[in-house]
Amino acid sequence: QIVMDFKHPNGSSVPVMVPRRSLLVMGGESRYLWTHGITPRKFDVIQVSEGQKVEAVSGNTEALTLSKRGTRTSFTFRKIRHSPCKCAFPSVCDSQQEKKGGSPPLVGDLGAASLEKEYVHKVYEDIAGHFSSTRHTPWPRVVDFLRSLPMGSLVADVGCGNGKYLGVNKDLYMIGCDRSKNLVDICGEKEYEACVCDALSVPFRPGSFDACISIAVIHHFATEERRLAAIQELTGLLRKGGQVLIYVWAMEQEYNKKKSKYLKESSNEPLPLSSGADVNQDFSSKLPVHTNRTAFDSQDLLVPWHLKPKCQSKKSEASTGEEQLVPSSVYHRYYHVFREGELEALCRKLQDVTVQHTYHDQGNWCIILEKL
Ligand SMILES: C[S@@+](CC[C@H](N)C(=O)[O-])C[C@H]1O[C@@H](n2cnc3c(N)ncnc32)[C@H](O)[C@@H]1O
Repeated sequence: QIVMDFKHPNGSSVPVMVPRRSLLVMGGESRYLWTHGITPRKFDVIQVSEGQKVEAVSGNTEALTLSKRGTRTSFTFRKIRHSPCKCAFPSVCDSQQEKKGGSPPLVGDLGAASLEKEYVHKVYEDIAGHFSSTRHTPWPRVVDFLRSLPMGSLVADVGCGNGKYLGVNKDLYMIGCDRSKNLVDICGEKEYEACVCDALSVPFRPGSFDACISIAVIHHFATEERRLAAIQELTGLLRKGGQVLIYVWAMEQEYNKKKSKYLKESSNEPLPLSSGADVNQDFSSKLPVHTNRTAFDSQDLLVPWHLKPKCQSKKSEASTGEEQLVPSSVYHRYYHVFREGELEALCRKLQDVTVQHTYHDQGNWCIILEKL
């Protein structure tokens, strides 16, 4: 038996126990509105029950037990449609969505700013301690870039997080900045130079940096205009001949027949047993909630973060700065995952840079630009 997770676009999730040798027929809402998938993990939390039947796993912890996964063979049969669809679920129906070049903007600029505030900035602020504890290892090709720079180079890390890259090459003068105060404080504790600012308005002198990096940040902007503005802000920091390295999360998590580490590593984070996603109603109909460690099926999505209880910081309230024990919760971060060629096409809109190199690394699209 195995647990299959059904997700509603409003963020609610229902784990359903599927016994061996069973047949699941999906139609109507369960087929079109809900998404379903099997999260890679070693154990499932299942209902203690007498018979073997398909049923939703309840939230009653006393009636639950762990079941070790074995080998699974499953077959999926789908009816293929050869004409446009007129189903009753237009908000999730490709045929009934307006077709334009590229991905349609989700929200206007104001909507984008409040989406980012709610689903990026607030989230990083709240998860900073836990997030930082999971971010130790610098990605080797980012390190190679930083090590390739001449001694004494002035380098900005925009969206530096916990400062993972600020100390990898002691021969550089590196300064970081990030929207999250709690993450910038963590950089300060490590004695790195960093300040709080938005990547759309970086308070460093334009044209003065030998190099910049922005790793896994630009995908948090909710419109193409804002992603381009963030890249322009980065390139504006560079002197003539200066270089910037940008990483964004890729839609293609399997590339050259190799799965990214993200897909390969099965998650240690349990999914909530019942609907726990407190997703803002305005956007919930448009933004699917991603199932961690699975392939992306949408470019704009909310990615759950399961905050470990001991890492929940209540710093935003007047506090002693001590961590407090509060029940575990699920946060959702907004991402726009980039398709192959999308980052390059965006960068080519800028007149004052040339594209030096683009590549796929660790499930990201990456680009090195040089300032003309
Ligand atoms: C996935 S983390 C990457 C952190 C770091 N670059 C790394 O590689 O470990 C994304 C970071 O971008 C920051 N961020 C998101 N939106 C931002 C914005 N508008 N301005 C500045 N930083 C932002 C977040 O606070 C977070 O630290």
